[in-house]
Amino acid sequence: MRIIIGKDYAEISKKAALIVAAQVVLKPDCVLGLATGSTPLGLYRELIAMYERGEVDFSKVTTFNLDEYYPIMPDHPQSYHYFMYQNLFNHINIDPNRIHLPNGMADPVEEECNNYERLIAEAGGIDLQVLGIGVNGHIGFNEPNPGLSSRTHLVDLKQETIKANSRFFQSEAEVPRQALTMGMGTILKARRIILLASGNSKAEAIKKTVQGMVTTECPSSFLQTHPDVTLLLDQEAAALLD
Ligand code: F6R
Repeated sequence: MRIIIGKDYAEISKKAALIVAAQVVLKPDCVLGLATGSTPLGLYRELIAMYERGEVDFSKVTTFNLDEYYPIMPDHPQSYHYFMYQNLFNHINIDPNRIHLPNGMADPVEEECNNYERLIAEAGGIDLQVLGIGVNGHIGFNEPNPGLSSRTHLVDLKQETIKANSRFFQSEAEVPRQALTMGMGTILKARRIILLASGNSKAEAIKKTVQGMVTTECPSSFLQTHPDVTLLLDQEAAALLD
């Protein structure tokens, strides 16, 4: 695991954007795996700025998002679909046909999951996966659990995740109780992975990710088994590392 510690959120966002942009420059038709949440917002702002300066061209890039609430309409302001268009896709020259998110209204849901896996495989697999991390070590919505699913699947959200995400909704009761997420196997098949973490609340999860046992109780610890992972941490998120 490569660990880059930046002085603050702005610095890690900028460095992450340089890594993503370099991927797109090296392979203009690359496949990016993308995350939502607060953490990648700075990265997306930087990518938009680079695009506006003419430094990076997204026209041939394909994207697959990690996850989506279930059930949720794509135009719901808290859907990950809506988030991605608002915070990235509406501001760059990506081809809408190359954008993929799990369908939060899919029925039957198993068919959607199989389809998502098939589309990733047909696109040639993910070249670079961007991850955030939950306070409990979840990546995507792979929550701590005695058994982790390998493939894209429907998952019950943990109470702590519902609580953490309720800040975006009117109330905790409004947070969907389930989500569709890439599985651990889907994520670990990506050729390169970058994980961003910022703030004190992530320090414990980062320590377990880097120095803990590989255990389903901390899904991010499985990143230790991947050959090309880079963590981009601000000083607070890195604070508990030896
Ligand atoms: C979102 C995702 C989640 C978040 C995690 C951290 O697509 O995959 O695993 O990365 O919940 O969220 P923030 O960045 O809001 O702290």
